[in-house]
Amino acid sequence: MARQSLLAFALLALLGLSLPSFGAQIPLFSSSIATPGPGKTSPLIEIDVGQWDLSVGPSADGTSHLVFDTVASLLQHWPNTRYRNGHNIVPGVVPVGTLLYHGRPWQEIPDKPDWVATDPEHARFFCASFNSSSGCWHMSFVATRPLKILYFDGSSAAKMQGGSMDTQDYVAWNATRPDWIYNDRKRIVDLCNWGKRYQLDGFYRMEMDFEIMLCDFTSGTQLVSSVQLDPEFTRPNRTELGEILSAEAPYRPARDSLRIDYQVIQAGSWHNFYPGETRLRLDLTRLISFYDTDMFPILVQARSGVDRLQHRPSGISEKGVQLLHERLDEVLRDFGNPQGVHLVQGPASGSGVDWRTLYQVIVDRYADRLEMLQYILNSTDPTAGNYHQNHTQTADNAMYRLQLMLTTYALRTARPPTVDAGAHNNLSWASPVYQYCATTHTSALYPFKPSFTKSEHLLLSALEGTNREICRVLVRLWAEGKQAGIDPGLPFQPSDNWLPMLNRWKAEIDGLMGWLGWSLWLKCRPTCSMEETCYLPTWPWFKTKPPAISEEAFQGEATGHDPDPDLDDEEWRNPLPRCIRHLEPFDWR
Ligand SMILES: *[C@@H]1O[C@H](CO)[C@@H](O)[C@H](O)[C@H]1NC(C)=O
Ligand SMILES: *[C@@H]1O[C@H](CO)[C@@H](O)[C@H](O)[C@H]1NC(C)=O
Ligand SMILES: *[C@@H]1O[C@H](CO)[C@@H](O)[C@H](O)[C@H]1NC(C)=O
Ligand SMILES: *[C@@H]1O[C@H](CO)[C@@H](O)[C@H](O)[C@H]1NC(C)=O
Ligand SMILES: *[C@@H]1O[C@H](CO)[C@@H](O)[C@H](O)[C@H]1NC(C)=O
Ligand SMILES: *[C@@H]1O[C@H](CO)[C@@H](O)[C@H](O)[C@H]1NC(C)=O
Repeated sequence: MARQSLLAFALLALLGLSLPSFGAQIPLFSSSIATPGPGKTSPLIEIDVGQWDLSVGPSADGTSHLVFDTVASLLQHWPNTRYRNGHNIVPGVVPVGTLLYHGRPWQEIPDKPDWVATDPEHARFFCASFNSSSGCWHMSFVATRPLKILYFDGSSAAKMQGGSMDTQDYVAWNATRPDWIYNDRKRIVDLCNWGKRYQLDGFYRMEMDFEIMLCDFTSGTQLVSSVQLDPEFTRPNRTELGEILSAEAPYRPARDSLRIDYQVIQAGSWHNFYPGETRLRLDLTRLISFYDTDMFPILVQARSGVDRLQHRPSGISEKGVQLLHERLDEVLRDFGNPQGVHLVQGPASGSGVDWRTLYQVIVDRYADRLEMLQYILNSTDPTAGNYHQNHTQTADNAMYRLQLMLTTYALRTARPPTVDAGAHNNLSWASPVYQYCATTHTSALYPFKPSFTKSEHLLLSALEGTNREICRVLVRLWAEGKQAGIDPGLPFQPSDNWLPMLNRWKAEIDGLMGWLGWSLWLKCRPTCSMEETCYLPTWPWFKTKPPAISEEAFQGEATGHDPDPDLDDEEWRNPLPRCIRHLEPFDWR
């Protein structure tokens, strides 16, 4: 049986590029022919090189890569720390049986909206607040039904100026309110009041770890335990903090406070990368993105020439606010049935395509291999750690990496013309490889398009735009290498001419990786020692206080440090990873 189908496949392959089809009952599409005739069993991909020009990159205003990266990063701590201005609002469900934690100085269960953490260490941080004599109460709750939650991505609980709270402020107040950064009580009350019309139970946010703004402790959750914990490592009391602040001396955290802070940093880091925080199940078919240029065209101009770190949703205009609310209404109106039965089993709307996994397929396929290719191309730089004088070897290594990435797309028929054909700069022979590489993950989804939600159309086009550019750059370099006669399978082609080409390749790969902006390439280099951990600075633990922390608000946070002239004192502008101690004495500076 297996042998037979293999044989059939080989036959198909011989006949050209022909993939097993879905069968005649499903309408078939090809990437080049919009609507095939009824009953036609053509493959979903047909090679048509016309529009596959290897020299045409994405438009400067395009946002595929930004939608792609933010969606691939949802609920992951590291990327949402790097890019803290969230651009997505996504409904999701916290399943039955999930434990949630709350820490406070009193025993009473909150009778107003309040905050719960998904990791107990995060709640523990708040248990003694500023009065260590009152006690450290640590409560756990269990979700007794699926909780309907709205997620704001980015570092949406970081009390900072600059945009980290923009999306939720638009939901709560129709405007961004920098003056209310610290007014989280008003924020939670107004968000919960707004959410009542959709029976929302709360809002998911991220700071040093993930948290939920829970609207009603008497609905959907039940107290599991309420215990008083040993206050050994509680934070300094108000007297201590008051003295420090009134002396106007920069606050140097007590050792105990560092220990409890470190616990939270560590808990947050458990969710750094895929799959990230999994106690919330997102429904991507209802995702709203501020990188959606159809919905918020006004932001295209606001982002023009601005570093991605500074992108923010602020400035969407009255019409944008209205659109946002219409869209929120669309995605939340029928979100989940009262029992929420199907919510935890599958998506409640759309095609059923597993977008999250499909996005991860692309990340998995290219993240490590692009990084290795970049490493190899770096070796022509005399200042690089892996400097290599033998450019023939480097070209050969780089070509092998390109082949590894394209081996499943390199069609037998795509061959460079012989050199004497005199067309050595014409790479159009490689266009079929580009097209196949660029469409292979998405063409199969076209038959399902009629059941797509608006969000799914956005997800598809972001995936296509991102994958297409990866393929364009890779195929271009590969084709150039082929044409130059570099082939790791053949004897070396010594040439003293490789350097200009390798430099060009490095610029292309650096450009591609910069465009993609995947935060998993942001690493501590060199890697940290066994006694250290790689830390991406986040609010409120920077080397210096970010500007939003006023003295008044500051009393709410046991943090802040001596400005050290030797250190980069504005790392909150551009958070970059660095090694911090993993063993005592702890210190994040
Ligand atoms: C706060 O800390 C100071 C200094 O450690 C101590 O003297 C004082 O008793 C503490 N106050 C309370 C209310 O725990
Ligand atoms: C600290 O808590 C205790 C016990 O709840 C209370 O009697 C005391 O007034 C509180 N002190 C301050 C400064 O809030
Ligand atoms: C926000 O805008 C929406 C749509 O324009 C409107 O329905 C709503 O009442 C506004 N909310 C507030 C708090 O102003
Ligand atoms: C390659 O060099 C660039 C600087 O030109 C650096 O930013 C990047 O991290 C290096 N990549 C690797 C994989 O070593
Ligand atoms: C460069 O490396 C290749 C492969 O290792 C080797 O065959 C060649 O002799 C080297 N060239 C020089 C100049 O060392
Ligand atoms: C490149 O080659 C293709 C196919 O041989 C040809 O159709 C096209 O006109 C050439 N392009 C240029 C710019 O020479």
